[in-house]
Amino acid sequence: MLFVVTYVVFVILSSRHGCSAADVPNFAAHFGSKTRYEDSVAHRRLLAELNAGPRLHTDPGSLLRTPSGERCSPMHLTAVVRHGSRYPTVKNIRAIRQLSNLLRRVDGQQQTQEAQMGERGEGSAAWNRDLLRRWDMWYTDDMDGQLVAKGREDLQQLATRLSTLFPSLLGEDSVRGGRIHVVTSSKHRCVRSAEAFQEALHVRANITPVQYRHQVDDGLLRAYDGCPGYVESVEKNRTALAEVDKFKRGPEMEALRKKVADKLGLPLQDFTPDLLEVAYFLCSYELAIKSLHSPWCFLFEPSDAKVLEYKCDLKLFWKRAHGYAINLLASCPLFHHIFRTLDKAGRPRRETDTPPDPASILIGHAETLLPLLGLLGLYKDETPPTADNYHTQDGRHFRSSLLVPYAANMVLVLLDCARGPRLQLLVNEEPVRFPGLPHEDAPLYRDVRVAYRHLLDGCDYHKACSSTAGGRGPNTEL
Ligand SMILES: *[C@@H]1O[C@H](CO)[C@@H](O)[C@H](O)[C@H]1NC(C)=O
Repeated sequence: MLFVVTYVVFVILSSRHGCSAADVPNFAAHFGSKTRYEDSVAHRRLLAELNAGPRLHTDPGSLLRTPSGERCSPMHLTAVVRHGSRYPTVKNIRAIRQLSNLLRRVDGQQQTQEAQMGERGEGSAAWNRDLLRRWDMWYTDDMDGQLVAKGREDLQQLATRLSTLFPSLLGEDSVRGGRIHVVTSSKHRCVRSAEAFQEALHVRANITPVQYRHQVDDGLLRAYDGCPGYVESVEKNRTALAEVDKFKRGPEMEALRKKVADKLGLPLQDFTPDLLEVAYFLCSYELAIKSLHSPWCFLFEPSDAKVLEYKCDLKLFWKRAHGYAINLLASCPLFHHIFRTLDKAGRPRRETDTPPDPASILIGHAETLLPLLGLLGLYKDETPPTADNYHTQDGRHFRSSLLVPYAANMVLVLLDCARGPRLQLLVNEEPVRFPGLPHEDAPLYRDVRVAYRHLLDGCDYHKACSSTAGGRGPNTEL
């Protein structure tokens, strides 16, 4: 508890000085899906502390919330985990290069002008501009979205924490017996994440050499790619993301674009909304990859960061979450897979039967996690975020910085309890209740099945993905 209090006081004090612990920008928890896990978790805990009094887990054991007096032991866990911190994708790297070149070119012209007029820019703005002009564009195209060293650590640390929490499931016996089932998306950053996760479990169990065993399954973890209904009606459909485009050109983004263009000394017409985002992403990448509080960050204040975070939320909401029913239905295979696994793990057995796998680890993307959380009915606000309601969305639940930072995870723990199997949900290592069962942290598994009956009996991927009319409208029935 002392640690917690100290930490909160520290955050509050340090945010006043514009930086915290290891010199981190004070808006580090607002980078959307480019937020570091530790910044996301620290921010969520701070919010919980401020809103609801102490609810923090100084003791990992307190994560499991079984009814008092009922004896329970964990019998299986399924975890859906996003890959760790990564390099920008090649599309972003090209945009970064464009911004860097633009700055050099414009700055060169200005210096000539200033030299002719016999004056030189003064003050912190000029100083910062100078830093950015000399900023070394070190990203190369071949880095294309690959996992970075910090990203390996993200997964290793998560695996270590989970195995401390669930030694009977992720401990030595399970690792030695090869009984932890790992499935990953085919993307390099996910495969590397799957390795890092397994490596940490081996290290903890003192087992060498590490034997990586994982199966690649895009049909499960990137099912959206194989869903023509989704690809045509949302992913490739500009109209479907109209709110995002509108916000990008709306008053909040325009004011910010002008402010940052001024700071950079760039002509407004050259500094597009996309380049504004690139400057912000650069601040996040330099932090996540190099632990640097980069000069790019000094272009922004916390209120600016919230505008850019909202843009990220808008995009993910309409493209990957509750915005359209098809976004969620494209993840039905994963939903069904998880419940089949839980069914199998919870089934009564004779002594002689082989026990079920103690753990199933599924490694994918933010695009894997968001629709799944959506199917479960989580983080759905009454009013959807739009281009026009930024100012009333401050208390929204759908916040990508808190939901899908690097190494984001959703863990379902099946518990063997006196009254039957129970299921507890953790999102980023925080207990979360199922929307249909709001009174219990760890409801009976059979009650969870009843609450999701409509999906267990429906959630028809093939129907949703092949039809050209169904599931298109705003999401109402899920
Ligand atoms: C594109 O999205 C809009 C808005 O949701 C929708 O009305 C339209 O039917 C979609 N187009 C296609 C080809 O699905």
